Amino acid sequence: MTSPDLHERLAPLSFLVGTWRGLGVVGYPTIDEARYEQEVVFSHDGRPFLEYVSQAWIIDEAGERVRPSAREVGWWRPGKEPRDVEVMLAHPTGIVEVYVGEVVFNKVELRTDVVARTETAKEVAALHRLYGLVEGDLAYAIDLAAVGQPIQPHLSARLSKV
Ligand code: HEM
Repeated sequence: MTSPDLHERLAPLSFLVGTWRGLGVVGYPTIDEARYEQEVVFSHDGRPFLEYVSQAWIIDEAGERVRPSAREVGWWRPGKEPRDVEVMLAHPTGIVEVYVGEVVFNKVELRTDVVARTETAKEVAALHRLYGLVEGDLAYAIDLAAVGQPIQPHLSARLSKV
């Protein structure tokens, strides 16, 4: 079967489509800094939304996987205006995030509108995400306000298209 054409409303987000792999760094005042490997897949079926799946593994100094880490799944949708983006992500840690954002020239900036938590989830208050194409790679930085800490860097990574 031939793959469907990308919906025209996804044109501003088209740079995200594909499978991306690479390395990142995680830190926060309350945890030990670590390096991780990540695979992110953005896909579509012709309708005006992207499916998003991310898996990460903590790695050791040799780059070998030590243990599975964060996973997230969700949907990236064009918003009301051509530049608007709406993103919903769900985590196995009992967190659901709803973001509003903007895409401009292969760069997406997202801020949480709502963070919902189950009874046993950690106290996550807000996130800010910046994704962009850097020399053909997908680079991002994610700031987190959680466990009583003000918003500050939690994650950054650079992923190459595979
Ligand atoms: C690639 C994505 C991510 C990776 C690799 C990652 C990695 C980590 C690691 C290694 C820790 C330390 C505890 C542990 O070893 O499990 C941690 C803690 C934490 N992360 Fe993340 N994380 C990611 C995404 C997120 C996201 C999206 C959120 C919020 C929705 C988040 C919220 C937290 C919180 C609240 C803590 C606990 C802080 C504490 O209790 O002191 N993380 N993360």
